[in-house]
Amino acid sequence: MSDLYTAPDLYDLLSDGVPGDVAWFGRQAKAAGSVLELAAGTGRVTIPMARAGAKVTAIELRESMLDAAAEKLAREKPEVRKRVKLLVGDMRGFELKRQFPLIVIPFRAFQHLHEVRDQRACLECCREHLTRQGRLVIDLFDPNLRILGANLDVNGSAARLFGEKPLGKDGRIVAMSSRVSCPEEQRFEETIVYEKFDAQGNSQWRRAHKIHLRYFFRYEMEHLFELSGLEVVKLEGGFEGQPYRHGGEQLWTVKRA
Ligand SMILES: C[S@@+](CC[C@H](N)C(=O)[O-])C[C@H]1O[C@@H](n2cnc3c(N)ncnc32)[C@H](O)[C@@H]1O
Repeated sequence: MSDLYTAPDLYDLLSDGVPGDVAWFGRQAKAAGSVLELAAGTGRVTIPMARAGAKVTAIELRESMLDAAAEKLAREKPEVRKRVKLLVGDMRGFELKRQFPLIVIPFRAFQHLHEVRDQRACLECCREHLTRQGRLVIDLFDPNLRILGANLDVNGSAARLFGEKPLGKDGRIVAMSSRVSCPEEQRFEETIVYEKFDAQGNSQWRRAHKIHLRYFFRYEMEHLFELSGLEVVKLEGGFEGQPYRHGGEQLWTVKRA
Protein backbone atom coordinates (compact mmCIF):
# COMPACT_ATOMS: atom_id res chain seq x y z
CA MET A 1 0.00 0.00 0.00
CA SER A 2 1.46 3.35 -1.01
CA ASP A 3 1.89 6.29 1.31
CA LEU A 4 -0.57 9.18 1.33
CA TYR A 5 1.91 11.53 -0.32
CA THR A 6 1.73 9.56 -3.57
CA ALA A 7 -1.89 10.80 -3.75
CA PRO A 8 -1.82 14.63 -3.51
CA ASP A 9 -5.49 14.82 -4.64
CA LEU A 10 -6.60 12.80 -1.60
CA TYR A 11 -4.16 14.62 0.68
CA ASP A 12 -5.69 17.95 -0.32
CA LEU A 13 -9.27 16.73 0.16
CA LEU A 14 -9.06 16.21 3.90
CA SER A 15 -5.78 17.70 5.16
CA ASP A 16 -6.81 21.08 6.51
CA GLY A 17 -3.86 21.43 8.88
CA VAL A 18 -4.09 22.69 12.44
CA PRO A 19 -6.71 25.39 13.24
CA GLY A 20 -5.29 28.84 12.55
CA ASP A 21 -1.97 27.63 11.13
CA VAL A 22 -2.21 29.17 7.63
CA ALA A 23 -3.01 32.68 8.93
CA TRP A 24 -0.34 32.38 11.66
CA PHE A 25 2.41 31.34 9.23
CA GLY A 26 1.27 34.09 6.85
CA ARG A 27 1.78 36.73 9.56
CA GLN A 28 5.19 35.34 10.57
CA ALA A 29 6.35 35.13 6.95
CA LYS A 30 5.19 38.68 6.19
CA ALA A 31 7.11 40.02 9.20
CA ALA A 32 10.26 38.06 8.23
CA GLY A 33 10.09 38.99 4.52
CA SER A 34 11.78 35.79 3.41
CA VAL A 35 11.14 32.24 4.56
CA LEU A 36 12.37 28.71 3.99
CA GLU A 37 9.61 26.12 4.30
CA LEU A 38 10.54 22.44 4.71
CA ALA A 39 8.25 19.57 3.65
CA ALA A 40 5.98 21.99 1.83
CA GLY A 41 3.63 19.34 0.43
CA THR A 42 1.09 20.72 -2.04
CA GLY A 43 1.70 24.33 -1.00
CA ARG A 44 -1.11 24.61 1.56
CA VAL A 45 1.00 27.03 3.65
CA THR A 46 3.52 28.05 0.95
CA ILE A 47 1.11 29.96 -1.26
CA PRO A 48 -0.63 31.92 1.54
CA MET A 49 2.81 32.98 2.87
CA ALA A 50 3.67 34.30 -0.61
CA ARG A 51 0.27 36.01 -0.87
CA ALA A 52 1.06 37.72 2.44
CA GLY A 53 4.10 39.27 0.73
CA ALA A 54 6.98 36.96 1.71
CA LYS A 55 9.54 35.39 -0.59
CA VAL A 56 9.22 31.64 -0.03
CA THR A 57 11.71 28.90 -0.80
CA ALA A 58 9.86 25.60 -0.39
CA ILE A 59 11.52 22.18 -0.17
CA GLU A 60 9.53 18.95 -0.54
CA LEU A 61 10.65 15.32 -0.87
CA ARG A 62 7.91 14.01 -3.19
CA GLU A 63 7.75 15.30 -6.74
CA SER A 64 4.05 14.40 -6.94
CA MET A 65 3.27 16.75 -4.02
CA LEU A 66 5.41 19.52 -5.45
CA ASP A 67 3.79 19.15 -8.89
CA ALA A 68 0.41 19.75 -7.23
CA ALA A 69 1.87 22.85 -5.51
CA ALA A 70 3.19 24.08 -8.88
CA GLU A 71 -0.26 23.65 -10.47
CA LYS A 72 -1.86 25.73 -7.72
CA LEU A 73 0.87 28.34 -7.96
CA ALA A 74 0.31 28.67 -11.71
CA ARG A 75 -3.21 29.96 -10.94
CA GLU A 76 -1.86 32.77 -8.68
CA LYS A 77 -1.19 36.40 -9.67
CA PRO A 78 2.24 36.98 -11.27
CA GLU A 79 3.56 38.87 -8.21
CA VAL A 80 2.73 35.89 -5.97
CA ARG A 81 4.20 33.37 -8.45
CA LYS A 82 7.49 35.16 -8.65
CA ARG A 83 7.93 35.16 -4.86
CA VAL A 84 7.92 31.32 -4.66
CA LYS A 85 10.70 28.88 -5.44
CA LEU A 86 9.70 25.19 -5.30
CA LEU A 87 12.54 22.71 -4.87
CA VAL A 88 12.55 18.93 -4.66
CA GLY A 89 14.75 18.11 -1.68
CA ASP A 90 15.14 16.32 1.61
CA MET A 91 14.82 18.20 4.90
CA ARG A 92 17.51 15.88 6.32
CA GLY A 93 20.15 17.31 4.01
CA PHE A 94 19.98 20.46 1.89
CA GLU A 95 22.52 23.10 0.97
CA LEU A 96 21.10 26.38 -0.29
CA LYS A 97 24.23 28.49 0.33
CA ARG A 98 22.20 31.22 2.03
CA GLN A 99 20.54 31.96 5.35
CA PHE A 100 16.94 32.84 6.21
CA PRO A 101 15.38 34.93 9.00
CA LEU A 102 12.61 32.33 9.24
CA ILE A 103 12.48 28.56 8.63
CA VAL A 104 9.19 26.73 9.15
CA ILE A 105 8.16 23.07 9.28
CA PRO A 106 4.34 23.19 9.47
CA PHE A 107 1.71 20.50 10.08
CA ARG A 108 3.81 17.92 11.92
CA ALA A 109 6.01 17.11 8.93
CA PHE A 110 9.03 16.73 11.25
CA GLN A 111 7.22 13.65 12.62
CA HIS A 112 8.12 11.86 9.40
CA LEU A 113 11.71 11.72 10.64
CA HIS A 114 11.73 8.47 12.59
CA GLU A 115 15.41 8.13 13.45
CA VAL A 116 17.36 10.37 15.82
CA ARG A 117 20.13 10.74 13.22
CA ASP A 118 17.57 12.09 10.71
CA GLN A 119 16.03 14.46 13.26
CA ARG A 120 19.46 15.80 14.20
CA ALA A 121 20.53 16.08 10.56
CA CYS A 122 17.43 18.17 9.82
CA LEU A 123 17.87 20.43 12.85
CA GLU A 124 21.58 20.91 12.18
CA CYS A 125 20.82 21.78 8.56
CA CYS A 126 18.21 24.29 9.74
CA ARG A 127 20.76 25.82 12.10
CA GLU A 128 23.22 26.31 9.21
CA HIS A 129 20.52 28.06 7.18
CA LEU A 130 19.32 30.41 9.96
CA THR A 131 20.54 33.99 10.26
CA ARG A 132 22.04 34.92 13.66
CA GLN A 133 18.70 36.29 14.91
CA GLY A 134 16.61 33.96 12.74
CA ARG A 135 13.82 31.72 14.03
CA LEU A 136 12.95 28.10 13.29
CA VAL A 137 9.29 27.14 13.87
CA ILE A 138 8.25 23.50 14.17
CA ASP A 139 4.70 22.28 14.74
CA LEU A 140 4.13 18.79 16.24
CA PHE A 141 1.21 17.14 17.96
CA ASP A 142 1.75 16.54 21.65
CA PRO A 143 1.35 12.79 22.32
CA ASN A 144 -2.05 12.28 23.94
CA LEU A 145 -1.55 9.44 26.40
CA ARG A 146 -5.23 8.48 26.41
CA ILE A 147 -5.33 8.13 22.62
CA LEU A 148 -1.98 6.37 22.46
CA GLY A 149 -3.03 4.00 25.23
CA ALA A 150 -6.30 3.16 23.46
CA ASN A 151 -4.37 2.19 20.30
CA LEU A 152 -2.00 -0.39 21.72
CA ASP A 153 -3.74 -3.57 20.51
CA VAL A 154 -1.19 -5.55 18.45
CA ASN A 155 -3.88 -6.13 15.80
CA GLY A 156 -4.39 -2.40 15.41
CA SER A 157 -6.97 0.07 16.70
CA ALA A 158 -10.66 0.20 15.83
CA ALA A 159 -11.40 2.38 12.82
CA ARG A 160 -12.42 5.99 13.45
CA LEU A 161 -13.77 8.71 11.20
CA PHE A 162 -10.76 10.54 9.73
CA GLY A 163 -12.80 13.05 7.74
CA GLU A 164 -15.70 13.62 5.41
CA LYS A 165 -16.08 15.90 2.38
CA PRO A 166 -19.43 16.65 0.74
CA LEU A 167 -19.10 16.97 -3.06
CA GLY A 168 -22.53 18.49 -3.78
CA LYS A 169 -24.46 16.56 -6.44
CA ASP A 170 -21.42 14.24 -6.88
CA GLY A 171 -21.98 12.71 -3.45
CA ARG A 172 -19.25 12.67 -0.80
CA ILE A 173 -15.93 11.19 0.29
CA VAL A 174 -15.65 9.53 3.67
CA ALA A 175 -12.29 8.52 5.15
CA MET A 176 -11.82 6.07 8.01
CA SER A 177 -8.49 5.38 9.69
CA SER A 178 -6.95 2.82 12.03
CA ARG A 179 -3.55 2.60 13.67
CA VAL A 180 -0.95 -0.02 14.44
CA SER A 181 1.31 1.25 17.21
CA CYS A 182 4.92 0.58 18.08
CA PRO A 183 5.30 2.26 21.49
CA GLU A 184 8.89 1.04 21.89
CA GLU A 185 9.87 3.27 18.98
CA GLN A 186 7.32 6.05 19.62
CA ARG A 187 5.75 5.43 16.23
CA PHE A 188 2.48 4.37 14.67
CA GLU A 189 1.35 3.52 11.19
CA GLU A 190 -2.05 4.87 10.22
CA THR A 191 -4.04 3.36 7.36
CA ILE A 192 -6.56 5.75 5.87
CA VAL A 193 -9.32 4.31 3.68
CA TYR A 194 -11.01 6.89 1.41
CA GLU A 195 -14.37 5.87 -0.02
CA LYS A 196 -16.38 7.80 -2.61
CA PHE A 197 -20.20 7.59 -2.48
CA ASP A 198 -22.55 8.93 -5.14
CA ALA A 199 -25.53 11.13 -4.22
CA GLN A 200 -27.65 7.98 -3.65
CA GLY A 201 -25.12 6.59 -1.17
CA ASN A 202 -23.66 3.89 -3.44
CA SER A 203 -19.95 3.23 -3.05
CA GLN A 204 -18.05 4.09 -6.27
CA TRP A 205 -14.45 3.47 -5.31
CA ARG A 206 -12.23 2.92 -2.30
CA ARG A 207 -8.51 3.75 -1.94
CA ALA A 208 -6.23 3.07 1.02
CA HIS A 209 -3.00 4.90 1.93
CA LYS A 210 -0.63 4.90 4.87
CA ILE A 211 1.19 7.47 6.93
CA HIS A 212 3.88 6.54 9.39
CA LEU A 213 4.52 8.99 12.22
CA ARG A 214 6.97 9.35 15.10
CA TYR A 215 5.78 11.21 18.20
CA PHE A 216 7.94 13.39 20.43
CA PHE A 217 7.63 14.25 24.08
CA ARG A 218 8.22 17.81 25.18
CA TYR A 219 11.54 17.34 26.98
CA GLU A 220 12.82 15.04 24.23
CA MET A 221 12.43 17.98 21.84
CA GLU A 222 14.26 20.27 24.26
CA HIS A 223 17.18 17.82 24.36
CA LEU A 224 17.18 17.44 20.57
CA PHE A 225 17.31 21.20 20.10
CA GLU A 226 20.18 21.52 22.56
CA LEU A 227 22.12 18.70 20.89
CA SER A 228 21.66 20.45 17.55
CA GLY A 229 22.96 23.85 18.69
CA LEU A 230 19.53 25.45 19.01
CA GLU A 231 17.92 27.32 21.90
CA VAL A 232 14.22 27.35 22.73
CA VAL A 233 12.59 30.78 22.45
CA LYS A 234 9.08 29.58 23.27
CA LEU A 235 6.72 26.63 23.31
CA GLU A 236 3.08 27.39 22.58
CA GLY A 237 0.05 25.10 22.46
CA GLY A 238 -1.41 26.13 19.11
CA PHE A 239 -1.89 28.88 16.56
CA GLU A 240 -4.67 30.70 18.39
CA GLY A 241 -2.73 31.77 21.46
CA GLN A 242 -3.25 28.57 23.48
CA PRO A 243 -0.70 27.77 26.20
CA TYR A 244 1.11 24.44 25.83
CA ARG A 245 -0.88 21.59 27.38
CA HIS A 246 -0.86 17.81 27.28
CA GLY A 247 -2.40 16.28 24.16
CA GLY A 248 -2.65 19.53 22.23
CA GLU A 249 -0.07 21.00 19.89
CA GLN A 250 3.65 21.61 20.39
CA LEU A 251 4.42 24.84 18.55
CA TRP A 252 8.15 25.42 18.97
CA THR A 253 10.04 28.60 18.15
CA VAL A 254 13.82 28.17 18.44
CA LYS A 255 16.95 30.08 17.41
CA ARG A 256 20.67 29.46 17.10
CA ALA A 257 22.22 28.95 20.55
C1 LIG B 1 1.71 16.40 6.68
S1 LIG B 1 2.44 16.80 5.13
C2 LIG B 1 2.63 18.55 5.32
C3 LIG B 1 2.60 19.28 4.00
C4 LIG B 1 2.45 20.78 4.11
N1 LIG B 1 3.54 21.36 4.87
C5 LIG B 1 1.12 21.16 4.75
O1 LIG B 1 1.14 21.81 5.79
O2 LIG B 1 0.06 20.80 4.19
C6 LIG B 1 4.08 16.18 5.31
C7 LIG B 1 4.94 16.40 4.09
O3 LIG B 1 6.30 16.08 4.46
C8 LIG B 1 6.94 15.56 3.32
N2 LIG B 1 8.18 14.91 3.75
C9 LIG B 1 8.31 13.76 4.45
N3 LIG B 1 9.60 13.50 4.68
C10 LIG B 1 10.31 14.50 4.11
C11 LIG B 1 11.70 14.81 4.02
N4 LIG B 1 12.62 13.99 4.55
N5 LIG B 1 12.08 15.93 3.38
C12 LIG B 1 11.16 16.76 2.83
N6 LIG B 1 9.82 16.53 2.87
C13 LIG B 1 9.41 15.42 3.51
C14 LIG B 1 5.87 14.64 2.74
O4 LIG B 1 6.16 14.24 1.42
C15 LIG B 1 4.63 15.50 2.89
O5 LIG B 1 4.42 16.29 1.75
